[in-house]
Amino acid sequence: IKRIGVLTSGGDAPGMNAAVRAVVRSGLQAGLEVYGVNNGFAGLHSGDIHKLDRYSVSDTINKGGTFLGSARFPDFKKVEVREQAIEQMRERGIEALIVVGGDGSYMGAKKLTEMGYPCIGVPGTIDNDIAGTNFTIGFDTALNVVMEAIDRLRDTCSSHNRISIVEVMGRHCGDLALWASIAGGAEFLVIPEADAWDEAKLLQQIQDGIAKGKKHAIVVITEHVTDVNALAKNIEGETGLETRATVLGHIQRGGSPTCRDRVLASRMGDYAVQLLVEGQGGRCVGILANKLVHHDIIEALEEMVRPFDKELYDLSQRLF
Ligand code: F6P
Repeated sequence: IKRIGVLTSGGDAPGMNAAVRAVVRSGLQAGLEVYGVNNGFAGLHSGDIHKLDRYSVSDTINKGGTFLGSARFPDFKKVEVREQAIEQMRERGIEALIVVGGDGSYMGAKKLTEMGYPCIGVPGTIDNDIAGTNFTIGFDTALNVVMEAIDRLRDTCSSHNRISIVEVMGRHCGDLALWASIAGGAEFLVIPEADAWDEAKLLQQIQDGIAKGKKHAIVVITEHVTDVNALAKNIEGETGLETRATVLGHIQRGGSPTCRDRVLASRMGDYAVQLLVEGQGGRCVGILANKLVHHDIIEALEEMVRPFDKELYDLSQRLF
């Protein structure tokens, strides 16, 4: 293999730059030429592809976002769009592509692989929702943002004896909420994996807490479970305690990556290059028990399920 491409796709995640940097630097070390694709699969389709050298990635490891740009590109579901994208790569002699992104990006990489164009998936998403890896790039940074937000909310809600509902991202994965609720000492947690959404049960738990003497509380909840502003009204009506909802939103996606994310991204980007050098395409990279691993990308998407960390969830319940 002589030439490889790299792109970032889907929702950006802190540490994506560190992953691309590792792909470029390790690729050059291995004697490869490395091409960067701007704006994810959209740029692949339009041919927004440029050769990178080691200086293209200088001063990027500490930066949030992705200097290559990212996009959601639903048109990539169309086979003719993917054929044109593959043509863009073939015209330039680019033989394989490293895709840094989340679930949707993996789907694009899988489809290209099925069409005979080898891709390697590197998990880059704050959601931590990819099968075959304990951690995704960006999760740790986002988690620290959420934890800090909870700390700040605790200051003000304890001053005012209020209940604070904090809605966090994660799409349909409760990991950000679960980890942040433990780290932030939240009183209540709602995540999609634990139980079916039951507002009456939460209200009862809060009432029980008040009966035991709680005068303020933090409720952490994963997005898409319920309307948090309506929930705040209902809690206030039921308990008589002022209740406010805070949706953290895209703040969670920004900022300089933590050390953990930079190192994880550097390891994964380098590993993806090594796999291509060994002639392995159609793989996705993960980390399990601190060891880098790779899986067949088709199997990973079709058969592997991300296990729910029930032990961690049970711990959160014991500490509330
Ligand atoms: O996948 C990352 C993520 O931030 C999710 O947590 C969230 O549901 C989604 O992206 C938001 O997407 P967008 O930035 O396109 O609104």
